[in-house]
Amino acid sequence: AIDIRSLYKELGYFTYDPGFMSTASCSSAITYIDGDEGVLMYRGYPIEQLAEHSTYLETCHLLLYGNLPSSDELSKFSRIIKEHSMLHEAIRRFYGGFRHDAHPMAIMVGVVGALSAFYHDNTDVHNPKHREISAHRLISKMPTIAAWSYKYATGQPFQYPDNNMGYTENFLKMMFSVPTEEYKPNPIFVRALDLILILHADHEQNASTSTVRLSGSSEANPFAAVSAGIASLWGPLHGGANEKVINMLEEIARTGDVNQYVKRAKDKDDPFRLMGFGHRVYKNYDPRAKIIRKMCHELLAELGAENQPLFDVALELERIATEDEYFVERKLYPNVDFYSGIILRAMGIPLNMFTVIFALARTVGWISHWNEMMDDPESRIGRPRQLYVGSAPREYVPIEQR
Ligand code: ACO
Repeated sequence: AIDIRSLYKELGYFTYDPGFMSTASCSSAITYIDGDEGVLMYRGYPIEQLAEHSTYLETCHLLLYGNLPSSDELSKFSRIIKEHSMLHEAIRRFYGGFRHDAHPMAIMVGVVGALSAFYHDNTDVHNPKHREISAHRLISKMPTIAAWSYKYATGQPFQYPDNNMGYTENFLKMMFSVPTEEYKPNPIFVRALDLILILHADHEQNASTSTVRLSGSSEANPFAAVSAGIASLWGPLHGGANEKVINMLEEIARTGDVNQYVKRAKDKDDPFRLMGFGHRVYKNYDPRAKIIRKMCHELLAELGAENQPLFDVALELERIATEDEYFVERKLYPNVDFYSGIILRAMGIPLNMFTVIFALARTVGWISHWNEMMDDPESRIGRPRQLYVGSAPREYVPIEQR
């Protein structure tokens, strides 16, 4: 085998690749994407099959351990995940320190980062058992942290996890139940949300996952590394897009002029972009968007007409854009975020929680990559190079002579 590292050293190779358009930062056995063909697989399983047959928790097992669990393995994994779902009561008090109108993503960055102050046993990042416990804690506590960030914003009492419920049901219950009423989540909401979680669970070296790997490469603790990933995900060019899609669709539905927005998106003097369109890797239809579009049809048929206008605008936008030369030439297709927001909105999930749900789903991807990196003998601290374009050497000038 070629020792790439020594070869590069010997040849003095240096590549300039802003945005990592064509540089692999690592090797990984977790997720495969063929952007030209619109293919996505987790551990070799096509996303379409997982979407149809799997559950989020089973998919978590697949991503973390590399195999689909047997029923015994799945029961054991579910039990462990349930065991960790509570948060330390002192973490609960953290929420009160945020302003009442704080964005839940800001709360997520802070609270997940703070976990490292509470769970500082099992911190040897070179010990696979210790890493596994951190992975379980993160996957398990994320729904509680996420739901509480919503409860805090609405001023309602926090709901504790109910370990008699499934993972996704439990999250919905912590979000929407109030102590005075019995709450039973609508089964179609549970299925739709579980599907969204499966589709967002991993996507190889995107900005947030690369952030988790880079932070973790210094052997920082996993809670801090995942908190950095959440911060990266929040940006509107990444996980923040789902929120922006709904704003855009609502605006278009109000004005009723889809063509005007398509025209604006093509105008190079206008910074406006069609949110939920385009992808760094997919130069074809994002396979996740196809699956979510189908779920949109099913969910809206079940719920009635109220959310239909937004979906109609989205379908019309997709129709126009996919026939328009500008979008066809640049291979811009709807991405995962284009339709997911419509489902979340129809379920009554507020806009500012959309990216939080993305973060909850992606946690397993982040932690699986971190785990893989820590196990990889090739892995070392991430340290990108730069192309210096600053001043040539010059003499220091005392302040009174400047
Ligand atoms: N609307 C209009 N034009 C677009 C769009 C869009 N949504 N996306 C890309 N383009 C154009 C660019 O202006 C550029 O045109 P040019 O060649 O004439 O200059 C060309 O398509 C290539 O775009 P880049 O920005 O170079 O592509 P890049 O790979 O860097 O960006 C990105 C990908 C950030 C996703 C981009 O398509 C975008 O901004 N989309 C909207 C935001 C979005 O939906 N983000 C979610 C991504 S998926 C996720 O994170 C889960």
